[in-house]
Amino acid sequence: MTATILITDIGELTTNLPGAPRATDAALVIEGARIAWIGSAGDAPAADTAISVGGAAVLPGWVDAHTHLVFAGDRSAEFEARMAGRPYAASGIAATVRATRGASEAELRANLRRLRGEALRQGTTFHETKTGYGLDVGAEAQAARLAAESADVVTFLGAHVVPEGIDPRAYLDLVTGPMLQAVLPWVQFIDVFCERGAFDVEQSREVLEAGRRAGLGLRVHGNQLGHGGGVALAVELGAASVDHCNALTSADIDALAASRTVATVLPACDVSTRQPFAPARALIDAGATVAIASNCNPGSSYTTSLPFCVATAVLQMGMTVEEAVWSATRGGALALGLSDSPDAVGMIAVGGRADLQVLAAPAASHLAYRPGVPLTAAVWRDGERVPL
Ligand code: NIG
Repeated sequence: MTATILITDIGELTTNLPGAPRATDAALVIEGARIAWIGSAGDAPAADTAISVGGAAVLPGWVDAHTHLVFAGDRSAEFEARMAGRPYAASGIAATVRATRGASEAELRANLRRLRGEALRQGTTFHETKTGYGLDVGAEAQAARLAAESADVVTFLGAHVVPEGIDPRAYLDLVTGPMLQAVLPWVQFIDVFCERGAFDVEQSREVLEAGRRAGLGLRVHGNQLGHGGGVALAVELGAASVDHCNALTSADIDALAASRTVATVLPACDVSTRQPFAPARALIDAGATVAIASNCNPGSSYTTSLPFCVATAVLQMGMTVEEAVWSATRGGALALGLSDSPDAVGMIAVGGRADLQVLAAPAASHLAYRPGVPLTAAVWRDGERVPL
């Protein structure tokens, strides 16, 4: 018999089950890696172990749908210059590519594990990560293999920028040919940085279509630094997600609202690059699906903290607490194409993954009400309690 754990005396339970409001005085049972029961504390069944959370809030573990965790080095000098007025530019990516190529596999793995552990201890129970700092066949394949050791979903971002000293046409042929073939054993999505200074719309289309032919799902880095065609392209090609979305026209917002493409906003990136915030409020009001992700990377957003992103989305981007929590959990799952997954990623559902977090607070609103305060009190991932 699989052991059962009863978590009871939940002050506020957020399940993300459609139509279910946040419940008070709730309880749930974990059986192995799954949720076996959800209900009122007074009706809770007996279990092998009972844990009272003393009126605390319980919510699904965070689903971080956009990270770049395979890298070496840091760019704190670039960050400091930015805080002194220099604008963010994609050209900084080359510095991380040099550091990553110069690092040993053990160093890359250790850094990835460090960041993954950091995120897990803050409640991130499911995460995507990308390649994109190798940018040659061997280094991208290595990044994909390392990413798959840690991440639930891996994205191929060979089309991050054209590496120094390489002809753009030759590089596109490499990305859509041998590099794509080399990463295929480990990746589920292909992504492209569709932006001035990286790849234009036609180049991006070529990358995405090659990925689709190889059986991959599509994601796009779009409209981060300026108006461009990234969002329109993502919607046209039915991408699962278009990420950043800072510079949107009303046509972009309408197109997203009429599509199944998720707009993934990256609040920590917006503050760290001093970009205008993505218009999350306008997107939601128009009917678009919005996810919140960390975009953890050493250049534009060096944080693993979804609590920080949620607080920023509420305090600075006009999202309600309920919207921000949903966007960083179920929204992330939809951005990863997991709407129909029986695992119920980003939800607390009977039969779904037992991925949840307990806050050192009576309500999820404290995530924004008490910004910067470490509120993660307990985390279960796949039914296993995470040592904090
Ligand atoms: O998502 N925008 C492109 N890629 C990363 C940043 C990479 C970097 O600056 O190293 C992002 O923000």
